[in-house]
Amino acid sequence: MSAKDVIIALDFPTKEATLNFLDQFPAGEKPFVKIGMELFYAEGPDVVREIKARGHKIFLDLKLHDIPNTVKSAMRVLSRLDVDMCNLHAAGASTMMKGALEGLTREDGTRPILIAVTQLTSTDADTLKNELLIETPMAETVMSYAKNAADSGLDGVVCSPLEAALVKEKCGENFVTVTPGIRFADSDVGDQKRIMTPALAGQSGCDYIVVGRPITKAEDPVAAYRRAVKDFLGA
Ligand code: C5P
Repeated sequence: MSAKDVIIALDFPTKEATLNFLDQFPAGEKPFVKIGMELFYAEGPDVVREIKARGHKIFLDLKLHDIPNTVKSAMRVLSRLDVDMCNLHAAGASTMMKGALEGLTREDGTRPILIAVTQLTSTDADTLKNELLIETPMAETVMSYAKNAADSGLDGVVCSPLEAALVKEKCGENFVTVTPGIRFADSDVGDQKRIMTPALAGQSGCDYIVVGRPITKAEDPVAAYRRAVKDFLGA
């Protein structure tokens, strides 16, 4: 299921801006891309179809979280968009995760890779304890959510590059790790706190790295993408 790759986060507000960005790549070069809530809610499923028709693999990052039946039905709709990867919140628990898998599975038995978000990186230890009333420490909570996802049959989790090795240890070598928070040694950190370079991420067992601004805001995005791929794959 897992094949190491770099996924570009298409964090653009419109289809026009997104396609202008993708047009910079030569015709034969089709990076794996991530479409998130901003672009999807602005442009709807058509933007997914259009980018798919251009030959890109797509991670549809909509982080579903609702009652099992609703998530199952929504996943059925998303599977028809022919995306390659999608996700949900592990906080929805195992019945929801199993329902999602059922909904995602197409008639021919194929389905996109399904990964779980454990705890959002924006939730800190203080919020976990005092607002969400979860007394278990953050690292343990994250690993427990990852294990629930694995036990429910999901393919992997979104995690920090610093957690990838431990996730593999707990959930199995084939359990996919998708990691944002990637920065070149010489690029702007921005609002990311726990970061790693593509090269280190490659060595630490991440299967997919999600890279946004270090590529999208680069002076030469195509060169930045190629640099990320080369560093990550160690080629
Ligand atoms: O621009 P940057 O490389 O920081 O973009 C990272 C992408 O990964 C963004 O689309 C962001 O929403 C997403 N992401 C993240 N941290 C998480 C989950 C998703 O940065 N914990």
